[in-house]
Amino acid sequence: MKVKKAVIPVAGLGTRFLPATKTVPKELLPIVDIPSIQYVVQEAVDAGIEEIIFVTGRGKDSIEDHFDEAPELEQILSNRGNHEMVKTLRRIAEMIEVVSVRQKVPLGLGHAVLCARDLVGDEPFAVMLADDLVDSEVPCIKQLVDIYNREEESVIALMQVPLEEVHQYGVIKGQEIEPRIFRIETTVEKPVSSEAPSRMAIIGRYVLRPEIFEILRKQPPGRGGEIQLTDGLAQLAQQRKMFGCAFTGERYDIGDKFGFVRATVAYALKRADLRDKVLAYLKSTIQ
Ligand code: UTP
Repeated sequence: MKVKKAVIPVAGLGTRFLPATKTVPKELLPIVDIPSIQYVVQEAVDAGIEEIIFVTGRGKDSIEDHFDEAPELEQILSNRGNHEMVKTLRRIAEMIEVVSVRQKVPLGLGHAVLCARDLVGDEPFAVMLADDLVDSEVPCIKQLVDIYNREEESVIALMQVPLEEVHQYGVIKGQEIEPRIFRIETTVEKPVSSEAPSRMAIIGRYVLRPEIFEILRKQPPGRGGEIQLTDGLAQLAQQRKMFGCAFTGERYDIGDKFGFVRATVAYALKRADLRDKVLAYLKSTIQ
């Protein structure tokens, strides 16, 4: 069965980015002039996904608005002759079908995914976290979908991290069975480095079979009192085969301040209208 839907949970509080996120959803903070969430939705579109399901929370309505029509604004821009921007706004509104469901209380990522159960139904689906931007030739989620299409089993994105950073991630135990493809035995949420089963960390791209929902429904709270997706993945890996994909591409953790700055600089350097100016500025400041 084809992977047609992507769940993007956006109900987190974004405490690492306070005070900016007191009223502005962190997913709308721009990397240059594009809200970070738009890069993630574009990645889904580029991978052939047909529908986005946002799991939203209080104060996050403006994320849906960003992907909606804005006739009054378009009219004003049109009257002022800014037809290029009208086209840009129309393209965003027409990118993809968007629906949403509320997570009333932020009880954890696993719980957020469970909230999308009825909208996903009984089919495989992608989960994409807006905290992770991946700049790659083949969209990161497409790299996972390609493995899913072959194996028809869940696939999660992996990245090797230094041992001193494993405690910040979900980590896998497993074997590399082909270049960049791992067979996963189990997953552990944020282990201390001495107990980490590997340095292969799970980052925010997943293609999951619908069996995960029943697991999450029954799952008690884990680390931090939250329903952890990683704990659900460990259960799923016991029931069925599960694969990991050490994707190709550069990943930016924009939920973290330094990651956000890195992404801003990297994406600015990719822009023809900014590259020369930013490079000259960087050179002048480090001299
Ligand atoms: P994080 O744990 O990074 O959370 O969640 P956060 O709350 O957004 O940010 P910080 O750590 O307080 O700064 C990873 C992803 O899961 C979503 C978040 O929106 C983020 O995309 N999430 C997390 C939910 O949708 N609901 C939750 O209950 C928890």
